[in-house]
Amino acid sequence: MEIFAHRGSSGTHPENTLPAFVEAAALPVHGVELDVHLSADGELVVIHDEKVNLTTNGKGYVKDMTLAELKTLDAGSWKAGEWAGSEMPTLAQVFGVFENTHHVLNVELKTDVFPYVGAVEKVAKLAAEQGMEHRLVISSFNHPDVKLAMDRYQLTGAILASNILVDMVAYTETAGTKRLHLSLPYALRHGAELIEKGCEVYVYTVNRLDYAEQLQQIGVSGIFTDYPEKMLGELK
Ligand code: G3P
Ligand code: CA
Repeated sequence: MEIFAHRGSSGTHPENTLPAFVEAAALPVHGVELDVHLSADGELVVIHDEKVNLTTNGKGYVKDMTLAELKTLDAGSWKAGEWAGSEMPTLAQVFGVFENTHHVLNVELKTDVFPYVGAVEKVAKLAAEQGMEHRLVISSFNHPDVKLAMDRYQLTGAILASNILVDMVAYTETAGTKRLHLSLPYALRHGAELIEKGCEVYVYTVNRLDYAEQLQQIGVSGIFTDYPEKMLGELK
C-alpha cells in the first residue's frame, strides 16, 4: 500500500510549507500530497484553506492577495515557534524540492469553492516546464477540472470525494478514472466493495495504525497520512 505524506510531513512540521516538504522528500514514501490555490495575480500557491487566517499571521482570502503580499506572511509560527518565518510556497518551489527524488506529487486543486479559472492550465504548464508531469496526480472535489487535466493534458486524475450518493462505479466511467481518493469514514464503509468492482481506492487522512492495517487488508492502493515517518516504521 502506497503512503503519501499529507500536506507534506504535516504532523511534525507546518503543513504545506517547504520544511514539511523537505522532510517528506527525505523519506522513502511513495508520494506527497499538497493543496493549491491561485493568488490575486494568478500565481499557484500552496495552502489548504481559501483564507490565510488559520495557518498564517494574516487575514483574508488567498484570491484577494498578490504573491508578494502572501510571501510577507508567516506560515510557520501557528505550528510552533521554531518554524517562525516559514513562507507560503509557490507550486514551482515545491516542485523544486522534489526535482531529484522519486516521489509522486498529488496536487489537489482547490477549485471547488472559488473556480480559479485557468488553474489546471497553469499546473500543467508548470509541470511540463519542471519535468514533473509523469509523476503528478491531479485530484479535486471539482471533478470537471480533474477531467480537463486528464483529457487535455494527459495527466493522471483522481476523483476526490468525502461522501457520494450516486453509484460510484458508474460515476468513475463518466469521470474517466478509476482512481478514487476517499475519506476514511466513506472508505471504511464502502472501500472493499468498490475495490472488488475494480476501483483504485486511496484514503485520507489515516493517522492511526489500526485503520491503516484494516485498509491494507481490504486492498486499498494508498493512504494519506500526516505522520508518514511513523507510518512507514509501523506498517508492515
Ligand atoms: O487529498 C486528500 C485530502 O487532502 C482531502 O482533504 O481537506 O485535507 O484537503 P483535505
Ligand atoms: Ca488536500
